[in-house]
Amino acid sequence: MDFRQTSLQLLLNNRRKAKNFQYTVPSPDTYPYQWLWDSCFHAIILTHFNVSDAKKEILSLLSAQFDNGLIPHIIYWDKKVKTDFPKINWGTEDTSGITQPPMIAYAVWQIYQKDNDRNFIKIVYPKLYHFYKYLLSERDPHENHLIGIMNPDESGEDNSPRFDIPLSLPAVHSIEKSKQKRFQLADQNIKCNFDAPFCMRNFFWVKDVPFNSIMVENLRYLSQIAEKIGKKGDSIYFTTKATETSKAMRKLMFEDGIFWSTFGEDYKKVKVKTWAMFAPLFARVLTHDEAWKLVNGHLLNPKEFWTKYPIPTVSIDEPSFDHKGFWRGPVWIATNWFIYKGLKNYGFYDIAKQIKESSIALIEKSGFREYFDPDTGEGFGAKDFTWGCLILDMD
Ligand code: GLC
Repeated sequence: MDFRQTSLQLLLNNRRKAKNFQYTVPSPDTYPYQWLWDSCFHAIILTHFNVSDAKKEILSLLSAQFDNGLIPHIIYWDKKVKTDFPKINWGTEDTSGITQPPMIAYAVWQIYQKDNDRNFIKIVYPKLYHFYKYLLSERDPHENHLIGIMNPDESGEDNSPRFDIPLSLPAVHSIEKSKQKRFQLADQNIKCNFDAPFCMRNFFWVKDVPFNSIMVENLRYLSQIAEKIGKKGDSIYFTTKATETSKAMRKLMFEDGIFWSTFGEDYKKVKVKTWAMFAPLFARVLTHDEAWKLVNGHLLNPKEFWTKYPIPTVSIDEPSFDHKGFWRGPVWIATNWFIYKGLKNYGFYDIAKQIKESSIALIEKSGFREYFDPDTGEGFGAKDFTWGCLILDMD
């Protein structure tokens, strides 16, 4: 398969236009709208083809920003489109009312690396500033320096077992049960008008490891963007915030060599082994020695994460592991991309290469599906799903 060509064709087929904007749908049948972190992935991939299309993807995303700075996780550009996706009522008309992992500064920085267009970063910067400031204030009202999510869907891993305990669900439960909980939470979010400090305190109080790792790395890029356009004070401010967040992760999430997501006022650790353990490699918050132990003890452990097609999203020795379950075991190419980048940060080039090769093998075997069985490579979920194209950015 000519991977580059097939990926480009998929992105072009999934491209949509609305008003003056252009965006990419993650999957035409299942996900026919614009999603926040998906569009950041699309922009990253598009930098390998046409930087101007990458910019358009970001501009259409930013056009839906709320007055308070939040960028919604879904924009329903075409509300009449047919979908097999169970649409959650977020109480809002044209968008959802929650957000998703803040990958946008990373994507903008990668765009800038391609063409050094200061004008573009000048245009988008005020919106990025507003978004990250919203996260730093509304999602951390007591300045403990960890960013909270108010709904599992904000993590991008809607049904991950990291949220079972915070949602009072047993490790093994039906997808219907989980949906019921998430819908109930969406209703509560609507009732409290998406007032994040209130929603978090009363209904779902989680500090998630990947979300915070992504925040740390993105704050660093935001700081660099600010510097490039002469905003020295902002640049220092965002670097300081990145450091504070990474220190808080160590203080409140780290135990026995692993960063765990926490819930509740007293930061109880959710000790469920998922790929989230490796997200801090992406944010470079581990020492080399800690990274070595994590990779050798867990990532390469065939009883946990080193399956025939690595990396499963949940360790195979967890009671919640389900080789077909939505975010409960299968391999997703975006999580492999985060791990790939993280491994390279620490010089684990050979392991990173193996993950890239195995990701390609999955697509060759089963096509551009949403997620894959870590043992058989069978594909599940959405078809013509764009995340597989992220392999092009594993360079
Ligand atoms: C699913 C995923 C989420 C993604 C969306 C669109 O809901 O869990 O991460 O953004 O699909 O691809």
